[in-house]
Amino acid sequence: MSKIVELKIIDLAFDGKAVAKTDSGKIVFLNGGLTGETVRAKIVRSKRRFDEAIVLEILEKSDERIEAICRHFDHCGGCSWQDLRYQKQLEIKKTHVAGCIERIGGLENVIVRDIIGSVEQFGYRNKMEFSFNRHPEFGFTLGLHRRGQYADIFDLEECHLPSERYGRIVGWLREYVRKNEIPVYDIDEHTGYMRFLVIRDAKNSNELMINIVTNSGEFPSQEELTDKMTAAFPEITTIVHNENGQKANIAVGEKETVLYGDGFITEKLMGYSFKISSNSFFQTNTLQAEKLYQIAFDMLKPTGTEKVLDLYCGTGAISICVAPKVAEVTGVELVADAITAAKENAEINNCTNVEFILSDSKDFLKNNQTEFDVVITDPPRAGMHPKALKQMISLLPEKILYISCNPSTFARDAKEIVEAGYNLPEVQPVDMFPHTRHIEMAALFTKQELSA
Ligand SMILES: C[S@@+](CC[C@H](N)C(=O)[O-])C[C@H]1O[C@@H](n2cnc3c(N)ncnc32)[C@H](O)[C@@H]1O
Repeated sequence: MSKIVELKIIDLAFDGKAVAKTDSGKIVFLNGGLTGETVRAKIVRSKRRFDEAIVLEILEKSDERIEAICRHFDHCGGCSWQDLRYQKQLEIKKTHVAGCIERIGGLENVIVRDIIGSVEQFGYRNKMEFSFNRHPEFGFTLGLHRRGQYADIFDLEECHLPSERYGRIVGWLREYVRKNEIPVYDIDEHTGYMRFLVIRDAKNSNELMINIVTNSGEFPSQEELTDKMTAAFPEITTIVHNENGQKANIAVGEKETVLYGDGFITEKLMGYSFKISSNSFFQTNTLQAEKLYQIAFDMLKPTGTEKVLDLYCGTGAISICVAPKVAEVTGVELVADAITAAKENAEINNCTNVEFILSDSKDFLKNNQTEFDVVITDPPRAGMHPKALKQMISLLPEKILYISCNPSTFARDAKEIVEAGYNLPEVQPVDMFPHTRHIEMAALFTKQELSA
């Protein structure tokens, strides 16, 4: 039988949960509440080392609590902290970075600079992925995942992380699919069409891409949908159709057809132009990415003579932005489309001292014979593959500039780099994702002088 308890929140965990302790000292994870608040909660699951509870009522409110602006906040899995004052969010993120470096990295005396807040606290995202899901009552839903329930998609009316038009486009497509009875994909039966709607826009050029991801084949009313959608939203510059015939429920297709426009958008970053296709990585908060790169390059202080290796280079954003400041850059990336785009981006920007190589970083490093003065590494959330990390260190570059979107894996990798003889005086966190728990950071490792 579930038990009702009164709890004082003592911390906020990085999976979006609040943390409390029972009188007997057992940890309780709650679905809501802010540090310092007292709540009445129902224990819904009891495990040996911790309990899980849902908040029924906030008995004592924190001064840091503010009104969330989104109608979906209480059930959406997108934002964790919209009801927490922004300054407090920044403080928590900085503390988390420091905690990871100390606990996971075992590194003392690393200065964690104050986190740089986002220029825009809302409307900052340049990409969002919305899912279609069959629903026993409504036929289907189109929107985002319900908090804590990955399989449940709620009908999204508004979202404040990207520009306001994203919500209107989602609503329009939902109505169109409903009216025209276009079958929505059934994950169990592997039948139907509509799987995802991905919207991307370029903040500095205002171009807008719609990517409709379906099961294999041409979906019903494809041409008419394109005509009606571009008439309803004249700001759309391109529509692409990606076919994913696999059971894996991901918004990436094996086959792409351009239904309208060029099939890509162009974004400006630090004065350079970048061609972005539906499946290639591009930093999600353009204005903050500019800040992050600027800070990273200020830390690096290039002299103009360096040979630079840019691992996990995506569509070449860092390589191209750093190229004019150094002698030459080699970018390495696993995704073929991204490498094609990176090469085109280098050409568009008349960048002649950069080459891009399609390879797993680990394999590139294993076979590489070239010496590099600087390695820039910007891996996915999982951090660097252990072999890639070891091989990167064995290149003995003078400087390693590590850009990370996950303080935990950064701290794990930093430990090994420091143990191999590098200094890490400080790190700079940058908030790219207000109201969520995500943190981006830049750190410069410098090779220690060998004592005689
Ligand atoms: C965080 S993104 C960085 C992109 C780029 N540095 C930027 O700022 O636009 C990580 C990139 O690593 C790529 N990637 C993932 N695993 C990889 C691997 N094993 N080897 C090379 N690239 C990989 C992804 O495709 C993605 O483009």
